[in-house]
Amino acid sequence: MRCIGIIGAMDEEVAGLKEYMQDVEITRKASMEFYAGTLEGKKVVVVRSGVGKVNAAVCTQILVDEFQAEAVINTGIAGSLNNDINIGDIVLSTDLVHHDMDAVGFGYPKGQIPRMEEFSFQSDQVLRKLAAEACREVNPDIQVFEGRIASGDQFIADQDVKDFIVKEFSAYAVEMEGAAIAQAASLNHVPFLVIRAISDKADGSAHVDYPAFEKLAIEHSVKLTKKILKELQD
Ligand code: ADE
Repeated sequence: MRCIGIIGAMDEEVAGLKEYMQDVEITRKASMEFYAGTLEGKKVVVVRSGVGKVNAAVCTQILVDEFQAEAVINTGIAGSLNNDINIGDIVLSTDLVHHDMDAVGFGYPKGQIPRMEEFSFQSDQVLRKLAAEACREVNPDIQVFEGRIASGDQFIADQDVKDFIVKEFSAYAVEMEGAAIAQAASLNHVPFLVIRAISDKADGSAHVDYPAFEKLAIEHSVKLTKKILKELQD
């Protein structure tokens, strides 16, 4: 039977989901533990991928191959790239791009993977709409945004680097896994959504804000993920 795959990069990002799961069976593969069971009445596989794009892509492929995931949700935290998006707010991906992909020397725009059609990977619109409505219900005190998310194997904590990513990609948030999950899911024709709560502003204050607000941000994304599962049609 098929299931929804739920990926968080770090233990903290999936712990709040695992604790509510029932009938859990653990499978170990590629140094990851896949928790298969039910959550809010839906069949799910929850997994900590590890940080970065390679871990995230490997994890997504396993969810597709071993668990026949019919959709993939990535839940976690991100840095804000927009002054209106505050710490604690949620960004739902419209599409995702690799901000560190660079084949400019071959005439490709920054972010474009050579010899692939897509510049960015489009999220599932049905999941996104459902998530936006669910977020207003379970997190009424914060804002929810729908926009592009930029991913790279870098923690962004520098105003100049942030400015470059904003200018080049018009992204709303920056993190380290989403585009890899999006690309792997797209290659397999599996719908996906990336849900990120903001932990920092991806500038010089990020190293201080991140540890201070990580927990609060994770609470928002976990709460939302559970509500989405509850509202999903079987
Ligand atoms: N995840 C949370 N904050 C981030 C940042 N500033 N850069 C990259 N990934 C992040």
